[in-house]
Amino acid sequence: MEIDVFTLFPEAFGWFTAQRHVTNAQAAGHRVGFVNYRDHTPLRAGQVDDTPFGGGAGMVLRVDVVEAALQARYGADPVRVRGDRRVVALTPAGRLLDDSLADELAAEPALTLLCGRYEGFDQRILEHFVSDEVSIGRYVLAGGELAAMVVCDVVLRKLPGALGDERSALEESFSVALEGAPEYPHYTRPAEYRGWRVPDVLLSGHHAQIHQWRLAQSRARADERPLP
Ligand code: ADE
Repeated sequence: MEIDVFTLFPEAFGWFTAQRHVTNAQAAGHRVGFVNYRDHTPLRAGQVDDTPFGGGAGMVLRVDVVEAALQARYGADPVRVRGDRRVVALTPAGRLLDDSLADELAAEPALTLLCGRYEGFDQRILEHFVSDEVSIGRYVLAGGELAAMVVCDVVLRKLPGALGDERSALEESFSVALEGAPEYPHYTRPAEYRGWRVPDVLLSGHHAQIHQWRLAQSRARADERPLP
């Protein structure tokens, strides 16, 4: 998997790219790269955005700037690039990210993530250069960087080699193995703390019973907290 993140703030990803599952994924041959729109702007003084036509607050990322950055990275007209790879714009009103969208994106050989800033993207970017709009929740962030990090995080941890133990990604909240339900509770030592005991079954060593208990807990959580 090859992920390119287009952003005005590549340095904001420094913490993220140092995380173990990201370095593991890179060591396994996956790649995360960054393109700064500002490095490719055809405008003077590094300009990348402009005031909205019709008036209103904030600044809008320009279509010519995004075109120049995509063209520089892929050496092709961005209108065609979105036919070759998923080009995802992070927008508050996009398709809501969930585990099945994460699975879908993780199955792609290559992803491009476009971060907006301020008031977001000129609509022509979304209409002509982008294949998907993705939202990480129905609230507005100051920019797409945090959303892009969330998408990279959920996608990378699904790739073989990213997690220390591959089983972690199989039986987890919302996975097929748990029928889409939240994950069961976990406990570790001490077995008793302030009188709060770990359920006996987990200390029993009976793997089949533990498995049944976990599934039952997971289903009970799904009943308690139905998804919207
Ligand atoms: N950009 C601003 N807010 C966002 C959100 N909630 N999801 C994705 N991208 C965004």
